[in-house]
Amino acid sequence: MDEELEGLEVTACERCPKLVDSRSQIVNGTGPEDADILFVGEGPGANEDEQGEPFVGRSGSVLDDTLLVVGLEREDVRITNCVRCRPPENRDPTKTELENCRGYLEAEIERLDPDVLVTLGKVPSEHLLGRSVGITSEAGSVEEIRVNGSPRRVVLSVHPAATLYDRSQEETFKEALETAADLAGADGNSSTQRRLDGF
Ligand code: URA
Repeated sequence: MDEELEGLEVTACERCPKLVDSRSQIVNGTGPEDADILFVGEGPGANEDEQGEPFVGRSGSVLDDTLLVVGLEREDVRITNCVRCRPPENRDPTKTELENCRGYLEAEIERLDPDVLVTLGKVPSEHLLGRSVGITSEAGSVEEIRVNGSPRRVVLSVHPAATLYDRSQEETFKEALETAADLAGADGNSSTQRRLDGF
């Protein structure tokens, strides 16, 4: 595992033959390496595969906008995925693919040592909690898990794309992010606000 990782970046990996075929590049996490909040999505979609960064399509816009609503900014947080290569036709990653990529996610969690993890949707919630999750009813709840022996707090959230299909999920999504910001002790003083505070 270590020989494929440079810092928090996976530089080469061929463990999942179908994903090696479908990806155009490996999509690593983005954001400060000492962020207090780590968002964990499912896996890259077409836009992410093209641009090499998680959550840059429509879901990413929802995430960015909602971060601002709760007093945070994309540049304040770290964002990653359970799998780093785009599954064909945007299917869910298989159990094996999730397991193949798990070590990279665990290494990222360990090195970042965030105050809180936020799972974006059912797949990352079930992957990290190791149980089935009814994400619509459980969104906003906080659980403690162990990752490599260390306790980690997890806020469960709906996937940002859920708000695009069902407007009533906007509030659910915002509340989960508010909970994460509170747990991370964010003061609502994002870097934009800090810059503006100077004037
Ligand atoms: N959905 C995800 O789960 N991850 C991304 O990076 C983009 C969309």
